[in-house]
Amino acid sequence: MLKIGDIKMKNQVVLAPMAGVCNPAFRLIAKEFGAGLVCAEMVSDKAIVNKNEKSLKMLYVDEREKPLSLQIFGGDKETMAEAARVVDQQTNADIIDINMGCPVPKITKCDAGAKWLLNPDKIYEMVSVAVKAVEKPVTVKMRMGWDDENILAVENAQAIEAAGGKAVAVHGRTRLQMYEGTANWDILKEVKEAVNIPVIGNGDVKTPQDAKNMLDTTGVDGVMIGRAALGNPWMLYRTIHYLETGELAPDPSPREKIDVCMIHMDRLINLKGEDVAVREMRKHAAWYLKGLRGNNKVRDQINQLHTRDEVASSLYNFVDGLESAQKEKASAV
Ligand SMILES: Cc1cc2nc3c(=O)[nH]c(=O)nc-3n(C[C@H](O)[C@H](O)[C@H](O)COP(=O)(O)O)c2cc1C
Repeated sequence: MLKIGDIKMKNQVVLAPMAGVCNPAFRLIAKEFGAGLVCAEMVSDKAIVNKNEKSLKMLYVDEREKPLSLQIFGGDKETMAEAARVVDQQTNADIIDINMGCPVPKITKCDAGAKWLLNPDKIYEMVSVAVKAVEKPVTVKMRMGWDDENILAVENAQAIEAAGGKAVAVHGRTRLQMYEGTANWDILKEVKEAVNIPVIGNGDVKTPQDAKNMLDTTGVDGVMIGRAALGNPWMLYRTIHYLETGELAPDPSPREKIDVCMIHMDRLINLKGEDVAVREMRKHAAWYLKGLRGNNKVRDQINQLHTRDEVASSLYNFVDGLESAQKEKASAV
């Protein structure tokens, strides 16, 4: 069982925080597909403190998404504590997560994200400040290290625990690796053995079997899934089902995929308005369409469309075409 502070998750499967993806529209879908915990996309501590309207909107949590973890990032103590306080007192989130993994230069150059991985003392200091400022559990998501010469995952996790952090999620890659190479799961086991707080393993869980493998070989308390869930919330459901029963649930049909893609789009429209949502949905639709035969034409089409109804008819025309081709093939046999 995965338990963070007093919060008990109903299973060990966690949706990873993903900027530009994990807003309430997709998080709710992930929840409906069974995720034990969903993580929100990162929000800047300074933007929260400065009451940036767009960032404050990103703190909205629907009751149905709970338990949910809201992630903040930043480089200095005062703003980190203040932003944590806002998440603690003014939002519906259950957990406050601190980002120590983001590799992109825009974030690391202001001494935030993965930059801290070089310095367990700084981690201790930042986590302590946040923990003291709030009542909700504080957790950290980090990469295993900065580069191959600086893999301080164990020391950093111990610093998080000593500072009062209630869990740590570890992505088995260095900052230098970005998303290259394969994630190192051995380090997850080392971290798990070195601390008493729950450890959530992350990196390259692409199938339900991978999830079981990670849990079995490393002993981590939870498994965090990112890219494999893009346009594929079935990955969450199928993983939970596999962990519970040892059986693989079937893949969704093309029509089911498009039905969920449309639910996603309608929720995004409610959240951001049709214009923005339709543009944002282009990348999501491409993910939902992944693996479906001949999807490049419909993807190109959607990239030119501006209204919900146009996108819907394009997607459903594509599925109708796929289904009639399948029927023809079946009757020819
Ligand atoms: C589009 C995208 C956005 C991401 N945004 C965040 C973020 O906001 N905060 C964070 O801690 N990690 C972020 N990550 C990293 C993921 O949470 C995760 O650690 C990484 O994708 C590895 O897991 P995976 O192999 O299951 O995808 C992001 C990853 C992707 C692909």
